[in-house]
Amino acid sequence: MKNIPAKIQSVNDALYYARKRVPRGIMNFYEGGSGAGVTARRNEEAFTEIEFLPRAATFNRTKKISTTVLGHEISMPVMLSSVGALRAGHVDGERAATRAAGTAGTIQIVSGVSTTSIEDIMAEATGPVFQQLYFIKDRDMTVRIIERAKAAGVHALVLIADSAAPNPPFEIPPNRRASPPMGVNFKEVMKFAPQLFTKIPWAFDFLRNGLKEPMAELAVEENGEVMKWFDAASQIFDPTPTWEDLKWIREIWDGPIVMKGIVSVESAKRAVDEGVDAIIVSNHGGNMLDTTISSIEALPSIIEAVGDKIEVYMDGGIRRGTDVIKALALGARAVSLGRAYIFPLMAAGESGIDHILTLFRSQINDALGHLGVESIDELDPSILKLPPHWRKSQWSEGLLSNTAQTTN
Ligand SMILES: Cc1cc2nc3c(=O)[nH]c(=O)nc-3n(C[C@H](O)[C@H](O)[C@H](O)COP(=O)(O)O)c2cc1C
Repeated sequence: MKNIPAKIQSVNDALYYARKRVPRGIMNFYEGGSGAGVTARRNEEAFTEIEFLPRAATFNRTKKISTTVLGHEISMPVMLSSVGALRAGHVDGERAATRAAGTAGTIQIVSGVSTTSIEDIMAEATGPVFQQLYFIKDRDMTVRIIERAKAAGVHALVLIADSAAPNPPFEIPPNRRASPPMGVNFKEVMKFAPQLFTKIPWAFDFLRNGLKEPMAELAVEENGEVMKWFDAASQIFDPTPTWEDLKWIREIWDGPIVMKGIVSVESAKRAVDEGVDAIIVSNHGGNMLDTTISSIEALPSIIEAVGDKIEVYMDGGIRRGTDVIKALALGARAVSLGRAYIFPLMAAGESGIDHILTLFRSQINDALGHLGVESIDELDPSILKLPPHWRKSQWSEGLLSNTAQTTN
C-alpha cells in the first residue's frame, strides 16, 4: 500500500486502486449514486461542459489560493465533505481524514453517521471541524449529539436539507452486485467471504480492528450504548431537519449553522431569511433524488440570488483542480470533496488523501497560471464559456450577459 499514492495521478486512478483493495459490496456504497445514477454522473459531466477562456500572455509566479470559510483561514478553497462509515473502507476512516485535513490546512466536515466518535476526531484535529447533523431516532438523541459536539469544540453544525426520504438504491448492473456485511456474525461472514479472496490487505485491517462491525459513534443511547451503524443509518430519513427545527437547535447550539443540500433559488433565499450562516449547494453527490439538477448548474442562479448575503460553498462532481476553479469563478467561496477523497482513502489511507490534496493544490495553482489570474479572489465568470443549453435552467439573463460567449 505504501507505493500506491505515488501511482495516483487522478481521482480515477484512486478509484482503480480502491476497487482493488476494498470488497465490492463496500465499494458499491461509496461509488453509488442513487437510482439510475444520473445526478451522480451529471455532477461530473456538467463540469466538462464548461470551457475556459484564458487571459493570454500573462505570468504570475506566485498565486494566492487561500480563503476563509466562516472566518476560518484555509490554505486552499477545498474542504473534505461529510461521508458516512469511512471505517468500513479503511481502518483509519474519519481519523485519516482529520489528520489529512490538518496537514493540508483545511476543514473537515464530519458525517452524522461517522464511525469515529467526535471526541476522538477533535483529539486529532489541528484545524477546524464542522459536524453534519442527522436526526437519529428521536429528539433526545439529537440533543445529546449537539451537546456533545459543543463540548468537543466542533466549529459549526451542518444541517442536512435534502434527505427527507430514503434514497432510491443505485441500479447496479448484475455483474457488479454484491452485498456489504450487515453485521459481524457467522452467517454474514460466510456470505461475505467470497468477496474477500482478493482483498487480503482490507481483510487484515478488519482483523486488526478486532472484527468489529461499524458503529454510529455519534449516536449514543441514554444508557451510554453506541448504536449499530445500520440501525442509526436506517433512521436518518424520518424525521429530517426542517426550517422550524432551526429554532430549538439554536437554543442549544450558539455556533454557526450551515445548511447543506440546497439546489433551488427559493430554498437558498429561505436559508438567508432564516438566518443560517452559510449554505452548501449540493445534491448529496447524487445520492438522494435522482435526476436532481447538478450542483454546478444550480450554483450560478443561487449566487445571483444570495451570493452577496451569505457564504455559499458547493460540492458534487469535483474531481480535479480545474473543477474547483470553475466553481469559484461561478461564485462559490469554497468547494468540498466527497468521492475525490474517499477513493484515495480506500486505496491508501491517510497518505492517499494527503496525496490527492497535494495534487488538487498544484492543479489549482497551475490552472490559475494558465488563466493569467493571480488570486482566486479575482476569479469571475468572464474566464468561462458556458454551455448554451444551461440557459434553460435557473439562469437569469442578467448573469448570462455577465458571462463570456454563451450565445453561440
Ligand atoms: C458514500 C457516500 C456517503 C455519504 N454520506 C454522507 C453523510 O453521511 N452525510 C452527508 O452530509 N453527506 C454524505 N454524502 C454526501 C457528501 O458529503 C457530498 O455531498 C458528496 O459526496 C459530494 O459529491 P462527490 O462525491 O461527487 O464529490 C455521502 C456521499 C457518498 C458518496
